[in-house]
Amino acid sequence: MAIPVRKFDAVIVGAGGAGMRASLQLAEAGFKVAVLSKVFPTRSHTVAAQGGIGAALGNMGEDSWMWHMYDTIKGSDWLGDQDAIEFLCREAPKVVIELEHFGMPFDRNADGTVYQRPFGGHMQNFGAGPAVQRSCCAADRTGHAMLHTLYQRNVRANTHFFVEWMALDLVRDASGQVLGVTAMEMETGEVSILHARAVLFATGGAGRIYSASTNAFINTGDGLGMAARAGIPLEDMEFWQFHPTGVAGAGVLITEGVRGEGGYLLNKNGERFMERYAPNAKDLASRDVVSRAMATEIKEGRGCGPEGDYLLLKLDHLGVDLIEDKLPGIREIAKKFANVDPVKDPIPVVPTCHYQMGGIPTNYRGEVVAPSQGNPEAAVTGFYAAGECACASVHGANRLGTNSLTDLLVFGKASGDTMIRFLKENPGHKDLPKDAADKTSARLSRLDGQQGGESVHEVGAEMRRIMQAHCGVFRFPDMLIEGVKKIKETAQRAQRTQIGDKSKVFNTARVEALELENLIEVAVATLVSAEARTESRGAHDRADHHQRDDVNWLKHTLWYKEGSRLDYKPVHMKPLTVQSVEPKVRTY
Ligand code: FUM
Repeated sequence: MAIPVRKFDAVIVGAGGAGMRASLQLAEAGFKVAVLSKVFPTRSHTVAAQGGIGAALGNMGEDSWMWHMYDTIKGSDWLGDQDAIEFLCREAPKVVIELEHFGMPFDRNADGTVYQRPFGGHMQNFGAGPAVQRSCCAADRTGHAMLHTLYQRNVRANTHFFVEWMALDLVRDASGQVLGVTAMEMETGEVSILHARAVLFATGGAGRIYSASTNAFINTGDGLGMAARAGIPLEDMEFWQFHPTGVAGAGVLITEGVRGEGGYLLNKNGERFMERYAPNAKDLASRDVVSRAMATEIKEGRGCGPEGDYLLLKLDHLGVDLIEDKLPGIREIAKKFANVDPVKDPIPVVPTCHYQMGGIPTNYRGEVVAPSQGNPEAAVTGFYAAGECACASVHGANRLGTNSLTDLLVFGKASGDTMIRFLKENPGHKDLPKDAADKTSARLSRLDGQQGGESVHEVGAEMRRIMQAHCGVFRFPDMLIEGVKKIKETAQRAQRTQIGDKSKVFNTARVEALELENLIEVAVATLVSAEARTESRGAHDRADHHQRDDVNWLKHTLWYKEGSRLDYKPVHMKPLTVQSVEPKVRTY
């Protein structure tokens, strides 16, 4: 049966902050834009962002985009591309003010300016300190406020939303140009081709490859899976951020804003242990540093509780008024998920998988880039990516808190602008190839026809166990080698999954099976890339190679699905207009 085709100028997959910032740019420029989302747009995972958006507005004291740039490069452990980081930090104040003018309900200072709080790794005076107040926030619900603001502006601009649609595969022609996606309407199970002149992936992260995760259930790496199946490499997948303060046992995020407002961590002896690990920044050191310190405290027997497997986040000394004003969501989360009221008692917390620094390789204009004919970064015509699914690379080996929302706004807007230029220069749709939907049809037929196959739930659980045990905060060579073997076996099993329910209407079993096919690509890419990188840098900490090795490893990893092959490309050490920040020892 023929598959229906719908035509748009641009198709955007994902309705989080990056997707909706890009769609707004395109729709306001008069283009016909479709945004696909597995959930209602304001339920995208950006809604869970709490602590704020990093931008050197200088509302609370002196600040500068160059200090922000320095902190971001240092935070990235020098793996971030300095041209992209300069772009991020220079543009940040503009996109935040713009968002304010869109109606974003930021917290305010007495003089009406946007309130900004301190956050980990953000310092004054090129890292010399003390902490700078740079995080622009709406209490502890910044992502929620941002998504609603962007959604309303998009409705006004006539963006077409395809709600509860799951993109399945990228459509490329013989030259490699991207011409759209195949997608399934979840309500009916029907598949369509969305034919476009430009496609942006803004599909978010894949934190659901781990069993303990702050990520929503929708964060299944769909964009990464689609890109990998279409021959695009995935960059720097070994770098995963563990947020220091997930609620122990539940994984729900407790914002770093708690420590920004003056909260701190304690071990079972009541000791503020971060003073030993990061004498200057203490609890506001960057996340990889704090998470490693916590894991060490637990490993060395200073964890709390009967099993000694968590630490305590104390904030009662901040007082009920400040907590209600600046951290109301945290109080609610602590009561619901940890059964403590933080105005009286500390919250039990553990490092929890939070963010992928790697992703689909892009430049700072949002174009997807891949090696081709001797060019390590040739643009893939018609294909763009922004937000957590993309690797620009501004976060390098470790992202600073608040820089993810900055990334969504800056690169969402930049990719929208780049797409507008491309659409103006390339009018008219190119013909779809005859086999446009073949890959998708084959995947769906395999799933419907599979007999005696594997349970999606069991294969998914095994993948999460492997990732948690073999590729966590600390990484051990033998565990990595064994992890690669196990995850490749699990990937084979994921090719044989079977669903009992073959019906079409709202078949969540089918959706979960398709999501697992994306997750498993991300899991394999992560373990293979991590096993190969024999150094410690940022969030990648190897027990057999304690030091950063700039001689051999100051380079980005590229993982290809075909043959699970690795390649590498240089880090951009030259910013756009200012001097390079040369690598040095990273201490806080
Ligand atoms: O802690 C937080 O509020 C998380 C912020 C972030 O990941 O940027």
